[in-house]
Amino acid sequence: MLLKFITTSLLMGFTLSVFAITPQDLLKIYEAQSSKASPSRGEQFFNAKHGKEWSCSSCHENPPNHDTKHIVTGKVIKPLAPNANPARFTDEIKADKWFKRNCNDVLDRDCTAQEKAEVLSWLMIVK
Ligand code: HEC
Repeated sequence: MLLKFITTSLLMGFTLSVFAITPQDLLKIYEAQSSKASPSRGEQFFNAKHGKEWSCSSCHENPPNHDTKHIVTGKVIKPLAPNANPARFTDEIKADKWFKRNCNDVLDRDCTAQEKAEVLSWLMIVK
Protein backbone atom coordinates (compact mmCIF):
# COMPACT_ATOMS: atom_id res chain seq x y z
CA MET A 1 0.00 0.00 0.00
CA LEU A 2 2.74 2.43 1.04
CA LEU A 3 4.85 1.29 -1.90
CA LYS A 4 1.94 1.92 -4.24
CA PHE A 5 1.55 5.43 -2.82
CA ILE A 6 5.24 6.16 -3.25
CA THR A 7 5.25 4.82 -6.80
CA THR A 8 2.20 6.88 -7.72
CA SER A 9 3.70 10.06 -6.25
CA LEU A 10 6.94 9.48 -8.11
CA LEU A 11 5.09 8.90 -11.34
CA MET A 12 3.02 12.04 -10.86
CA GLY A 13 6.12 14.10 -10.16
CA PHE A 14 7.73 12.64 -13.23
CA THR A 15 4.72 13.42 -15.40
CA LEU A 16 4.58 17.01 -14.15
CA SER A 17 8.26 17.55 -14.86
CA VAL A 18 7.80 16.11 -18.35
CA PHE A 19 4.92 18.40 -19.24
CA ALA A 20 5.98 21.58 -17.46
CA ILE A 21 8.42 23.28 -19.79
CA THR A 22 9.57 26.78 -20.65
CA PRO A 23 9.24 28.58 -24.00
CA GLN A 24 13.05 28.21 -24.34
CA ASP A 25 12.74 24.41 -23.98
CA LEU A 26 9.99 24.27 -26.55
CA LEU A 27 11.97 26.40 -28.98
CA LYS A 28 14.90 23.97 -28.62
CA ILE A 29 12.59 21.04 -29.34
CA TYR A 30 11.26 22.63 -32.54
CA GLU A 31 14.73 23.74 -33.65
CA ALA A 32 16.07 20.22 -33.07
CA GLN A 33 13.40 18.98 -35.50
CA SER A 34 14.27 21.63 -38.09
CA SER A 35 16.98 24.31 -37.91
CA LYS A 36 17.81 27.59 -36.18
CA ALA A 37 14.79 29.89 -36.11
CA SER A 38 14.67 33.42 -37.48
CA PRO A 39 12.43 35.71 -35.39
CA SER A 40 11.91 38.12 -38.30
CA ARG A 41 10.62 35.31 -40.51
CA GLY A 42 8.38 34.32 -37.60
CA GLU A 43 6.94 37.83 -37.47
CA GLN A 44 6.25 37.82 -41.22
CA PHE A 45 4.67 34.38 -41.04
CA PHE A 46 2.44 35.45 -38.14
CA ASN A 47 1.12 38.55 -39.88
CA ALA A 48 0.71 37.15 -43.40
CA LYS A 49 -2.22 35.33 -44.95
CA HIS A 50 -1.45 31.92 -46.37
CA GLY A 51 -4.08 31.45 -49.06
CA LYS A 52 -7.05 31.55 -46.71
CA GLU A 53 -9.06 34.31 -45.13
CA TRP A 54 -7.12 34.73 -41.87
CA SER A 55 -3.62 35.32 -40.56
CA CYS A 56 -2.51 34.45 -37.04
CA SER A 57 -2.92 38.13 -36.21
CA SER A 58 -6.63 38.01 -37.18
CA CYS A 59 -7.27 36.63 -33.69
CA HIS A 60 -4.03 37.34 -31.81
CA GLU A 61 -3.31 40.82 -33.32
CA ASN A 62 0.12 42.37 -33.76
CA PRO A 63 1.83 42.69 -31.38
CA PRO A 64 0.05 39.83 -29.54
CA ASN A 65 0.83 41.27 -26.11
CA HIS A 66 -2.67 42.19 -24.89
CA ASP A 67 -6.14 40.61 -24.58
CA THR A 68 -7.66 40.21 -28.05
CA LYS A 69 -10.91 38.95 -29.52
CA HIS A 70 -11.53 35.77 -31.49
CA ILE A 71 -12.51 36.94 -34.98
CA VAL A 72 -15.56 34.63 -35.12
CA THR A 73 -16.82 34.14 -31.57
CA GLY A 74 -15.65 37.47 -30.11
CA LYS A 75 -14.37 35.60 -27.04
CA VAL A 76 -11.38 37.10 -25.26
CA ILE A 77 -8.02 35.49 -26.02
CA LYS A 78 -5.23 36.11 -23.52
CA PRO A 79 -1.93 37.53 -24.86
CA LEU A 80 0.11 35.01 -26.83
CA ALA A 81 3.52 36.55 -26.10
CA PRO A 82 5.10 34.86 -23.06
CA ASN A 83 6.43 38.22 -21.77
CA ALA A 84 2.83 39.39 -21.42
CA ASN A 85 1.41 36.02 -20.34
CA PRO A 86 3.80 33.69 -18.46
CA ALA A 87 1.39 30.74 -18.84
CA ARG A 88 2.10 30.59 -22.58
CA PHE A 89 4.29 27.80 -24.01
CA THR A 90 4.69 26.03 -20.67
CA ASP A 91 2.80 22.92 -21.79
CA GLU A 92 3.99 21.17 -24.93
CA ILE A 93 0.76 19.24 -25.48
CA LYS A 94 -1.36 22.36 -25.20
CA ALA A 95 0.91 24.37 -27.49
CA ASP A 96 0.91 21.62 -30.13
CA LYS A 97 -2.84 21.18 -29.90
CA TRP A 98 -3.42 24.86 -30.64
CA PHE A 99 -0.71 25.12 -33.26
CA LYS A 100 -2.41 22.27 -35.09
CA ARG A 101 -5.87 23.76 -34.86
CA ASN A 102 -4.90 27.37 -35.64
CA CYS A 103 -2.47 26.43 -38.43
CA ASN A 104 -5.26 24.43 -40.05
CA ASP A 105 -7.52 27.47 -39.92
CA VAL A 106 -4.86 29.72 -41.44
CA LEU A 107 -2.88 27.40 -43.77
CA ASP A 108 -5.16 24.40 -44.29
CA ARG A 109 -2.42 22.20 -42.80
CA ASP A 110 -0.41 21.83 -39.60
CA CYS A 111 2.61 24.14 -39.25
CA THR A 112 6.05 22.58 -39.75
CA ALA A 113 8.55 22.44 -36.88
CA GLN A 114 10.46 25.24 -38.66
CA GLU A 115 7.38 27.48 -38.77
CA LYS A 116 6.58 26.78 -35.11
CA ALA A 117 10.20 27.54 -34.14
CA GLU A 118 10.11 30.82 -36.05
CA VAL A 119 6.78 32.01 -34.67
CA LEU A 120 7.83 31.07 -31.14
CA SER A 121 11.27 32.72 -31.44
CA TRP A 122 9.53 35.94 -32.46
CA LEU A 123 6.81 35.71 -29.77
CA MET A 124 9.55 35.33 -27.14
CA ILE A 125 11.00 38.75 -28.01
CA VAL A 126 7.64 40.57 -28.24
CA LYS A 127 7.57 42.97 -25.28
C1 HEC B 1 -9.70 32.06 -35.48
C2 HEC B 1 -8.90 32.58 -34.37
C3 HEC B 1 -7.43 32.21 -34.26
C4 HEC B 1 -6.49 32.29 -35.26
C5 HEC B 1 -6.66 32.77 -36.69
C6 HEC B 1 -5.25 31.85 -34.67
N1 HEC B 1 -5.44 31.51 -33.35
FE1 HEC B 1 -4.04 30.79 -32.05
N2 HEC B 1 -5.44 30.60 -30.59
C7 HEC B 1 -6.78 30.89 -30.74
C8 HEC B 1 -7.50 30.45 -29.57
C9 HEC B 1 -9.01 30.57 -29.34
C10 HEC B 1 -6.55 29.87 -28.70
C11 HEC B 1 -6.81 29.16 -27.37
C12 HEC B 1 -7.26 30.02 -26.29
C13 HEC B 1 -6.11 30.53 -25.51
O1 HEC B 1 -5.15 29.77 -25.28
O2 HEC B 1 -6.13 31.69 -25.14
C14 HEC B 1 -5.27 30.00 -29.37
C15 HEC B 1 -4.07 29.56 -28.82
C16 HEC B 1 -2.88 29.49 -29.51
C17 HEC B 1 -1.67 28.86 -29.01
C18 HEC B 1 -1.50 28.21 -27.64
C19 HEC B 1 -0.29 28.75 -26.91
C20 HEC B 1 -0.14 28.25 -25.50
O3 HEC B 1 0.86 27.58 -25.21
O4 HEC B 1 -1.00 28.57 -24.67
C21 HEC B 1 -0.75 28.95 -30.02
C22 HEC B 1 0.67 28.41 -30.04
C23 HEC B 1 -1.37 29.67 -31.12
N3 HEC B 1 -2.66 29.98 -30.79
C24 HEC B 1 -0.72 29.98 -32.29
C25 HEC B 1 -1.35 30.49 -33.43
C26 HEC B 1 -0.69 30.63 -34.72
C27 HEC B 1 0.76 30.29 -35.00
C28 HEC B 1 -1.62 31.11 -35.58
C29 HEC B 1 -1.46 31.34 -37.07
C30 HEC B 1 -1.01 30.19 -37.86
C31 HEC B 1 -2.86 31.28 -34.83
N4 HEC B 1 -2.66 30.90 -33.53
C32 HEC B 1 -4.05 31.75 -35.37
C33 HEC B 1 -7.37 31.49 -31.83
C34 HEC B 1 -6.76 31.72 -33.06
